[in-house]
Amino acid sequence: MTLKISNLTVNHGAICAINQVSLEVPTGKLAAIIGSNGAGKTTLLRALSGLNHPTSGEISWMGNNVVGVKPEMLVRAGISHVSEGKSVVPELSVRDNLELGAIWRRNKKESQESIDRVISIFPRLGERIEQRSDTLSGGERQMLAIGRAIMSKPQLLLLDEPSLGLAPLVVEKIFQTIL
Ligand SMILES: Nc1ncnc2c1ncn2[C@@H]1O[C@H](COP(=O)(O)OP(=O)(O)OP(=O)(O)O)[C@@H](O)[C@H]1O
Ligand SMILES: [Mg+2]
Repeated sequence: MTLKISNLTVNHGAICAINQVSLEVPTGKLAAIIGSNGAGKTTLLRALSGLNHPTSGEISWMGNNVVGVKPEMLVRAGISHVSEGKSVVPELSVRDNLELGAIWRRNKKESQESIDRVISIFPRLGERIEQRSDTLSGGERQMLAIGRAIMSKPQLLLLDEPSLGLAPLVVEKIFQTIL
């Protein structure tokens, strides 16, 4: 089992955001977490990428317990997180945002190859490559957020509400790409 979550509990102070969650995701599979507002979906994803600290329970990734591992080390271990709300660095160009996704690799040639790959998935980003990110449309910004995550060549891609606020056609495109 590639990802195995066992009895995971995360408290935010007095608030219990998730309580004893267990979940397994095998290699090559797609899992969807469904729940109402405040159910704890974001909390779960943030725990998987090291941004939230579990109160108890285990997260096993490729056979290693990764609770307490720093987010930047988890990226190197193949876990990439696209947070809720199309988050990109607004002042930076599309290219600079993409390069941030692979900055820890420090290899210009490999970085360019990854940019080419992202552009082949989302051609629109290629057409906007030198444009400031805060001038992108909502759908383009979500493509950029996902593209930046792909830059790190993830083996586990965590997407928090990838269709939030997007038009139906854009949602269709994003979901086709995810598949
Ligand atoms: N840093 C925090 N401090 C205190 N409470 C928090 C914190 N983060 C989340 N919570 C609370 O934990 C609960 C779960 O929040 P979470 O963001 O995980 O829900 P969600 O399922 O992603 O909801 P949504 O569908 O609205 O995005 C909520 O009640 C929220 O108010
Ligand atoms: Mg959420």
